[in-house]
Amino acid sequence: MTAPDTLDNPLFARIWTFMSSHETDWLRDRRRENLAGLSGRVLEVGAGTGSNFAFYPETVTEVVAAEPESQLRDAALIAAAAAPVPVTVVASTVEALDAGEPFDAIVCSLVLCSVDRPQDVLRQLYTLLKPGGELRYFEHVASPGLRGGLQRVADATFWPRLFGNCHTHRDTEQAITAAGFAVTASRRGHQFPAWAPLPVSEFALGSASRPA
Ligand SMILES: C[S@@+](CC[C@H](N)C(=O)[O-])C[C@H]1O[C@@H](n2cnc3c(N)ncnc32)[C@H](O)[C@@H]1O
Repeated sequence: MTAPDTLDNPLFARIWTFMSSHETDWLRDRRRENLAGLSGRVLEVGAGTGSNFAFYPETVTEVVAAEPESQLRDAALIAAAAAPVPVTVVASTVEALDAGEPFDAIVCSLVLCSVDRPQDVLRQLYTLLKPGGELRYFEHVASPGLRGGLQRVADATFWPRLFGNCHTHRDTEQAITAAGFAVTASRRGHQFPAWAPLPVSEFALGSASRPA
């Protein structure tokens, strides 16, 4: 893969830092749900400002949190210091991560929309996970119908530029399965009411395992 090791995206970093500091209870509950029951060594990719850190259960022995964007990483370092479990923040895109000791679990939240080549990234995550290990994901995903059309227009115009390369019309669960994972639990829902004309509403929250 030819992605850079780190990223500088000051506009998005400011937008995301503002959004992270105004998260709803609904979003915090989804973060908690995505992390519930994890244990052992966990890799979190694209950790942003570290919004997940507070919700790791104490059965997690270490979180390695990769965040390539410098301003977001600074915020993540502050969140790491207050986390209930040990969190090591590293400056890296997921593509540039070294394969070391494989992880018990990998966490993706609102990040597979932002990488350039989700299929390649997921294949890489597969190799970074122990056989039998779990990929936990909370991602907004492609919708059908009118909202799907809106997503395509947003993706082709302003949305990725404003929101750090976020693409709203991705079938992320299909990509997870295509990378070799077996989805073991999954649910879909909407973050906003059906009538709200927003490209990011439908989400998938689930768990997929690397077969043992
Ligand atoms: C929408 S934010 C989500 C942040 C965090 N995961 C959360 O749940 O709040 C997307 C994140 O993905 C990161 N990102 C973008 N491209 C990446 C890549 N190639 N590898 C790792 N992280 C990446 C961005 O820097 C940003 O922190």
